[in-house]
This record gives sequence, structure tokens and C-alpha cells, in this order.
Amino acid sequence: MNILLIGGGGREHAIARALRLSPSSDNLYSYPGNPGIWQFAPKAEIQKFDFNFIIDFCKSNNINLVVVGPEKPLADGITDILIENGIKVFGPSKQAARLESSKGFAKDFMARHNIPTAKYKIFSEEDKKTADEYLNTCKFPLVLKADGLAAGKGVIIAQEIQSAQQTLDSMFDGLFSDAGKTVVIEEFLLGVEASILAICDGKDYITLPSSQDHKRAMDDDLGKNTGGMGAYSPAPIVTESVMNKVHEKILRPAIEGMRAEGFPFTGCLYAGLMIHDEEPKVVEFNVRFGDPETQSVLSIFEGDFAKLLYSAACGKIDTSAIKNSSNKHACCVILASEGYPDEYEKGFEITGIEEVEKTGAIVYHSGTRLNEGKLLSDGGRVLGVTGVSTTLKTALEQAYNAVRKINFSNMYFRKDIGKKAL
Ligand code: AMP
Ligand code: GLY
Repeated sequence: MNILLIGGGGREHAIARALRLSPSSDNLYSYPGNPGIWQFAPKAEIQKFDFNFIIDFCKSNNINLVVVGPEKPLADGITDILIENGIKVFGPSKQAARLESSKGFAKDFMARHNIPTAKYKIFSEEDKKTADEYLNTCKFPLVLKADGLAAGKGVIIAQEIQSAQQTLDSMFDGLFSDAGKTVVIEEFLLGVEASILAICDGKDYITLPSSQDHKRAMDDDLGKNTGGMGAYSPAPIVTESVMNKVHEKILRPAIEGMRAEGFPFTGCLYAGLMIHDEEPKVVEFNVRFGDPETQSVLSIFEGDFAKLLYSAACGKIDTSAIKNSSNKHACCVILASEGYPDEYEKGFEITGIEEVEKTGAIVYHSGTRLNEGKLLSDGGRVLGVTGVSTTLKTALEQAYNAVRKINFSNMYFRKDIGKKAL
């Protein structure tokens, strides 16, 4: 089958690799891709990021499946438009994508279907006075979330009332543009986080191995929230008993609820969990693969990934496309630019990748670009160095040994990825 992959980060590099390794994939294109992805999924000739140009490319290249990596085009309705044009897509419709594009929608949906999550209230700009009064009744810490997409930055944890009030004011004043004009205020959950990725066909789903991200910028979970500084898979916190609850209380009701409400979910449903005393609650839903979770999860995937996604896009998951026998572990360490998630410099030459690839570790490109044959850093998150082995300990060793061989000015990474799980 011929496939077009939309997106250009580390997550898409991992998806592209898994698609390339799939027996059922033929021509594989990426748009916009990145230098890592282009090694095995050349850049599609699409003039600009416009759905009509994407449709034209699909039609003239006999594309059988479009796989959408990032949330933005999904929230903008790329799936709906491609399907109207007879093109199969792995990714939810605009309506279904509201599970991520509107935190308020997701919270109300969970309430309607008794899916465990933090207690919450939703306020819009017009309710500012009521919101202020409500803050006076809350326990701290307290979590304030911009309703709309805010590139992973729209969540602020307030330790006391003054900072909660300030945060609320600045959100209503446009801190996150329109995304923050509606705010979800929710209870702070204690516990350990984990991520579950479910491949869904609208009626049914199958889960990939569990994983754990490291959201904070610095070791010991200090510093600001980032897009994710590293991840490993599987995550031992997700025991069999936790996973049974995830199926029974979260994934099954979510898939059935979306279908019953008239927007069946096709694509990857990402459940971000907080687990306390073996009880999982949903911190967030995303409607796409996680980044950097995917770099770990797909590095240990065994089966025909292209066939799996295609079958889901066609409405009937082919469970034979996934082998459940993998006993491998993976760990991805993000190499970032010093300063991320705030200001950082880019454009520094990256060396050592070829050396690393000889050791069996995988290097996923997140923010890189080519300039006159040289590979340069081009983002906050630059590379995802991933070790794969039979134990988490040896996967971690492989990843960190590989990290030592890579170099660029202002390279920054966490030294404690996966440490808590050992
Ligand atoms: P979100 O974008 O909703 O996943 O939030 C980003 C991060 O903020 C999460 O990964 C958690 O680390 C943290 N967070 C969000 N909501 C809560 C909550 N209710 N309690 C504790 N931490 C939270
Ligand atoms: N790693 C968190 C996310 O993909 O949203």
C-alpha cells in the first residue's frame, strides 16, 4: 500500500520507521517530514500545507492511507476532508478530535460516561466573577487549563490562591490566545503518570505497550513542563490490574461513548493517566500518538504497523497485524537545546549520529534541518536517542551510552529518564 505521513517531528520519525518496516507498505511519503524521516519516506511534492494540495497529491500518487501525526490538522478537520474525497485516513474526525482540542469537551464527555478524572469546573471569560469566587472555595495545589490547543503549555499548577487568580486573569487576557478564553479548573491529582496508546477503528480498539513520559525540563521532575524530555516502555506502574481498570473504566466507555454520541473515534486515542493506589484517572486525552512516548513504544512494536493502521482506518482492526509477544524494553532520551521550553538558540551542527547507529541505538529526529550537507539543530527538542533491549536497565544503558557519542552546542538532556522504574 502507498502511504502519506503528515507531520515532521520525532513522533513522526518513529511512525515512519515502523511503517517502513511493515511488510504491507510500498511507497511511503512524508509531508513535511524532516531529515531523519526523509531517509526512508521522501518528502511529498506538496506545495504548501493546504488540504487541497494534500488531496491532489494523494490522488495523483495512488495513496491508500494517510497517517496524521500532529493534533493541529486533526482539530482543523483534515480527516473529514480527505474522507469526503475518498481517501482513507488514520486519525479522528474534527468532532472526535475535540477530546484533545477542547479540554472542556473532554471533561464533560468523561462526566457523561463516568470515566474517572479530576473533579472540575469550566469557566469562560464572561464568568470571570464566578470563577474568582470559585477559586476561594478550592483546595491547593489547583490545576488551571486552557480549553484549547496550546502546544502542551496550557496547563498551570497553582500552589496558592494569589497565583491561581493571576493565572486565571492572564488566561482570560489572552495568555494562550483564544485557547485560554475558556478555562478548566480542576483538582490536583496525586500519583504516578503513565500513557496508554489505543489504536481505534470507531467501534473497537487494541492497546500498544504502556509507557511513561518525563514532562518536566529538569532531573527529579523539577523545572517547567515541556512537550516531554524522555520516555520508556513498557511502564511497570501499569500492572495487569491497572490495565484491566483502564480497559473497563476508561477505554471501553470512551470508545463506546464517542460512538453513541455520533462521533466514532478512529485513530490513536492517547489516555494520559494518573495512577494512585492502582486506580487510574484520566489527566488528559490526546487524539494522536504521544511524543516522545511513540519513539519508545514503536521501537518495540512487532507486527505489521501499516496493516494495523490501515485496518483501523477501514473500520475493522486486524488483530493479526500486531504480535503481543514482544518482551523488549525501550527508552528514549530527548536531546534538547539548552533553554527549552523557553528561549533557545538553534542552528548548531550535530555530530555522532552515524557512530551511534552502529551500536544498535535508534536516533529519531525531532528538530533538525540540513544545510549544505550538514545536519543542524532546529528546535527545542532536537533528537530522541532510543535504546532497545531485553531489560529496561540495558535499554537505558544503551540510550545513555549513545547520548555520549552525540554532540552539538547547547545540547541539554535529563540524566534520570527511566530511573524511577528501575
Ligand atoms: P495535560 O496537558 O492536561 O496532560 O497536563 C500537562 C501535565 O500537567 C500533565 O502531564 C501532568 O503532569 C500535569 N497535570 C495536569 N492535570 C493535572 C492534575 N489534575 N493533577 C496533577 N497534575 C496534573
Ligand atoms: N508526551 C505528551 C504528549 O504527547 O502530549
